[in-house]
Amino acid sequence: MSFGIYVHIPYCIQRCTYCDFATYEQSKILPPADYTQLMIREIELKKSFFLRGKDSQPVDTLYFGGGTPSLFAIKDIVQVIEALARAGYPLSPDAELTMELNPGTVNEDKLNDYLKLGFNRFSVGAQTFNATHLKRVHREHSVIDTIESLKLLKRYNLNYNFDLLFGMPHQTVGELDHDLGQALEILPPHISPYYLTVPEGHPLSKNRPLEDDQMIMFDRIEQTLCENGYNRYEISNYARPGYESKHNYLYWSDHNYWGIGLSSHSYLKQTEGAPWGHRFWNPNNIKIYQQEIGDLKALESPTQLASIYFETLKENQSLTDFCHTSLRRAKGLVLSDLEAKFSGPSLTRVHKELDNLKERGLVQPTELGFTLSSKGKLISNWVFEKLTFT
Ligand SMILES: C[S@@+](CC[C@H](N)C(=O)[O-])C[C@H]1O[C@@H](n2cnc3c(N)ncnc32)[C@H](O)[C@@H]1O
Ligand code: SF4
Repeated sequence: MSFGIYVHIPYCIQRCTYCDFATYEQSKILPPADYTQLMIREIELKKSFFLRGKDSQPVDTLYFGGGTPSLFAIKDIVQVIEALARAGYPLSPDAELTMELNPGTVNEDKLNDYLKLGFNRFSVGAQTFNATHLKRVHREHSVIDTIESLKLLKRYNLNYNFDLLFGMPHQTVGELDHDLGQALEILPPHISPYYLTVPEGHPLSKNRPLEDDQMIMFDRIEQTLCENGYNRYEISNYARPGYESKHNYLYWSDHNYWGIGLSSHSYLKQTEGAPWGHRFWNPNNIKIYQQEIGDLKALESPTQLASIYFETLKENQSLTDFCHTSLRRAKGLVLSDLEAKFSGPSLTRVHKELDNLKERGLVQPTELGFTLSSKGKLISNWVFEKLTFT
């Protein structure tokens, strides 16, 4: 079984208007060195959770996300990796190490430092090549910064992802085509398109592309990327063969993961007395995180956390998670995996829903089980609602 660690670095140069991730403008949060010490303390206090009596648990994927982790000094990143190793979490020899980079926050020297440390995958928040849209959503970088960052990664022949934001106010299908064209000139190994999501009444909720155009945009992305050698290996992730993100894949394939730092979420599969496992998480507010970690004593299990920071899963929740995450993948839901984990009435309920969805043309059978059909991908939230078990 694979094991992954996510480390959240909640620092940004400025806040993008649409972003609801737990991040702060860098001048409005504690110094990076202090935040690093808090994370190191968190690692020490919770290290038993995934060791469970073993001396060590090798880390197959380590992901520094944010925020803007590339704002941190290398020494802070090194300290986190060393603290993990000391706590019993060394990197596997072939571990995937990802660093998120905002355009304009990395130069050749910094990239070389990351490479020396063992980072072998990068993720660039490019968003769009349209300067007006970048400005409207309050991105702090220019189009030229983006192109330079992407070209640097390409010149080094690295494995990297490109985040593409679409569905922005006033954005046209032609402008999205232009973004796709620019991206394909660089041909990144991996592309994650994000449809802009903001709540009703948000300043960016007006003048969004109309529903027909939204559908065309989703179609255009799939068609253009698939014609150019990318596989849609998950609902919103495309990769050239061999460049699928191992870290993301682990989230969708029922493996353990540990999220460290502000707002991070974790999943621990079955333990004694908890056959369906636990989820646990950190607060979203930096002052509360600081206080919680400051007050915490060393723990053996997530159930010793305050009750607002963990939940012990029940069978119906585990079944729901299993169906949702596996159907996000192009590989889909694998029946032998379902049957290895669940039995009796749970299996009957899933089969009944899958049969209904198949009749409606929303899922389709494969050699291994079921995948979402093209129609199912378009209304995946509706499909997932049907596969939500109470
Ligand atoms: C949280 S960011 C971290 C990476 C980096 N800081 C950046 O902005 O590029 C990861 C991705 O989530 C996307 N994102 C954040 N809020 C979003 C929203 N409300 N709707 C769609 N995508 C969003 C960002 O655009 C970014 O590409
Ligand atoms: S830079 Fe990234 S993490 Fe920071 S506010 Fe913008 S989208 Fe959010």
